Amino acid sequence: MRVPNVTIRHFITTQDWSRAELDALLDRAEIFKHSPAGAQLTGKSVALLFFNPSLRTRTSFELGTFQLGGHAVVLAPGKDAWPIEFEVGTVMDGAAEEHVAEVARVLSRYVDLICVRAFPQFVDWAVDREDRVIKAFARYATVPVINMETITHPCQELAHALALREHLGELRGRKYVLTWTYHPKPLNTAVANSALLIATRMGMDVTLLCPTPEYVLDARYMELGAENARANGGSLRVTHDIEDAYRGADAVYAKSWGALPYFGRWDAEKPIRDAHRHFTVDAVKMALTHHAVFSHCLPLRRNVQATDAVMDAPYCIAIDEAENRLHVQKAVLAELATRPEVKA
Ligand code: CP
Repeated sequence: MRVPNVTIRHFITTQDWSRAELDALLDRAEIFKHSPAGAQLTGKSVALLFFNPSLRTRTSFELGTFQLGGHAVVLAPGKDAWPIEFEVGTVMDGAAEEHVAEVARVLSRYVDLICVRAFPQFVDWAVDREDRVIKAFARYATVPVINMETITHPCQELAHALALREHLGELRGRKYVLTWTYHPKPLNTAVANSALLIATRMGMDVTLLCPTPEYVLDARYMELGAENARANGGSLRVTHDIEDAYRGADAVYAKSWGALPYFGRWDAEKPIRDAHRHFTVDAVKMALTHHAVFSHCLPLRRNVQATDAVMDAPYCIAIDEAENRLHVQKAVLAELATRPEVKA
């Protein structure tokens, strides 16, 4: 039974964590990087719920839990666990066998932390932008909930920030380019939203490069990015000019995403997307930068999103960033497992 006057602390968005707290997580991740073993999860367990596929997230969370002395249970609702209903007050005569109200409460009796990956449905952005799945888990769970990627990807943010910090040192005032890239499918905006949040939070001068105004990210993240920039001494601007974006950049981060005005009408978006295949990150574009580092959250389609030459260049830090997923997530797990509550 939890003590009154406390609330459960979650890691759903980095915006709920102060800059000092984020820096402390990064510092702790650095320690785990040099000294991997820990006992913060001894006798504790973690549920990892995957509504979507994963390589890095699943491996790093499962191993990270093990390295801290805990045990991870991996579940794929609708595959190896019952399909879950999220609507409140609905008559459950469809595919779902149980409601998140029971799932989150039951798991909370078994485990100390619940981690959720739930991508958008890609039909109606007005619905997907509510982030209903993870918010429902947070509403009903009595243990901390960690976002393993929904409409943002806060663990990727920390891994990215750590990799940037390792390679660039002080990030404030550095020119950061988030570039859209071509991909044959319309992808989640989560990593792009997150890249804006964390780069502006670090006080970087952020340029969002995308093909047309339709690819600008949701106003919520553009506004948060602008607020973060103001609060942390950086800036945020949008351009559709490739040369203008790359010139003088210290860091280039690539991601593909679907244009929000075409959400659920992807056939209508395809001609615009197909007309911008040349957004591929290549050595010619990187040569415009100020010896920039390049990264991507992975998975990445070579010679579609970035060329072999870029992915194999010494300035590519995507593998470092992927490694950092392990270290930053251990920092988050350790923090929430040992201090799961904050005073209300
Ligand atoms: N970057 C990332 O989250 O990778 P996975 O989708 O493989 O987990």
